[in-house]
Amino acid sequence: MTVTSVIGTQWGDEGKGKVVDYLAGQMDYVARFNGGNNAGHTVMNEYGTFKIHLVPSGIFAQNTIGLIGGGVVIDPQVLLEEIDMLNKAGVGVEGRLWVSPRSHLIMPYHKILDGLYEKAKGAGATGTTLRGIGPVFADKVSYNGIRWSDFSSEMFETRLKVQMELKNKIIVALGGEVLNYEKVRDTYGEYYARLRPYIRELFGIVQDGLKANKHFLLEQAMGTFLDTDWGTYPFATASTTIPSAASAGLGIPPRYITNVVGVTKAYTTRVGGGPLPTEIHDTASEVYKKFSETAATTGRSRRVGWLDLEIVRTAVQISGITELCLTKLDILSGLDEIQVCVGYKSNGKSVRYMDVDAYGLDEVEVDYKTVKGWREDISKARSFEELPAQAKDYVKMIEEAAEAPVKWIGVGPERDATIRR
Ligand code: GDP
Ligand code: IMO
Ligand code: MG
Repeated sequence: MTVTSVIGTQWGDEGKGKVVDYLAGQMDYVARFNGGNNAGHTVMNEYGTFKIHLVPSGIFAQNTIGLIGGGVVIDPQVLLEEIDMLNKAGVGVEGRLWVSPRSHLIMPYHKILDGLYEKAKGAGATGTTLRGIGPVFADKVSYNGIRWSDFSSEMFETRLKVQMELKNKIIVALGGEVLNYEKVRDTYGEYYARLRPYIRELFGIVQDGLKANKHFLLEQAMGTFLDTDWGTYPFATASTTIPSAASAGLGIPPRYITNVVGVTKAYTTRVGGGPLPTEIHDTASEVYKKFSETAATTGRSRRVGWLDLEIVRTAVQISGITELCLTKLDILSGLDEIQVCVGYKSNGKSVRYMDVDAYGLDEVEVDYKTVKGWREDISKARSFEELPAQAKDYVKMIEEAAEAPVKWIGVGPERDATIRR
């Protein structure tokens, strides 16, 4: 039995989808346990290119069973579209994708409130994905949520009615448009009818799998520094993103987690507001253009920066990462020099990530080390030995600073563009 948790060590979009798809061939179960469809995980394999928001990215491996744990919040429309997309592509998810009845539903009012709260916060806005994530998790922990299991209860209509009356009052107060109860009830009733074949309590499935010594792959959404508690709050997301979340969000007891794979992008990106100490602001520069990416969920431009080793080191510590997967090393090709953050200073004194809050992190002075780059295209390399000496040194520098071995190196977005050491 193995339970491998895949964890982004930065601010999300590290390439978790690709890594999960790569590792899934060896797995029996692939599972999501946190976040919701704010996630956008890109997979490129023999079926095509996909941006996945809810279904575990390991579902392409036909031997796997996909699980969406109770810790995941679900926009049913997004889930239905995704299932259709996968079926159409020949991936076939029926009979091997199970959704926990404990998972909370993103309702239309959550999405509206997300937008209204962001607008009200003005310049201090978080820059959310506007998928209703903060409001749905707020409802979950304040006992106002709607779960799949509620649909079979006699109390369902009453509970939804109460919620809609409450939410409509807030929406009106914030200048939004009132939602119609009957319309929401009927739409969600249809979603439930269509998704019913996939909804199933996961407790027995997970317990049986553990007992039968099966292999589990847990796919985190977001990144370590978007975690509600340990991230750059209030520029964070509304769920726990460290491996312990799989315990509450899927029902995997913590002591069963055998491996924690930290996914680290060879540089840094961030979407939305909040501190990014190594940010590159010169949008006309060669390096900015090299690093720039488009967000998989919202289509926004990702902010970019140099690799921040203090961030990666902290992620390794908080999540107990056993091995790293370095992604997008190919993107660094063509730079003569590469800057790397090796620590922070505040008022002349060394500080660590945990010594400052989000606003303090925005003000730290970054200690940069300049390392030599390489000119060669490395996208065809499939062994560590094939990499230029400077690229090897870059990998070794990360291992030393993070105190974790780099076991895989990504040299392209496709599944097989991966070096295993
Ligand atoms: P996730 O949210 O962590 O799954 O990451 P995203 O899919 O949002 O963003 C990662 C982007 O990098 C996607 O466009 C991937 O296709 C791409 N990607 C992942 N690994 C590599 C790699 O090693 N090299 C290159 N060039 N692209 C990669
Ligand atoms: P994956 O799984 C990058 C960011 C948003 C915003 C903050 C809060 O693809 O790595 P939310 O909608 O969650 O309330 O927004 O979190 N964010 C992500 N950034 N990758 C993600 O997911 C993200 N999910 C949320 O941009 O700054
Ligand atoms: Mg993403």
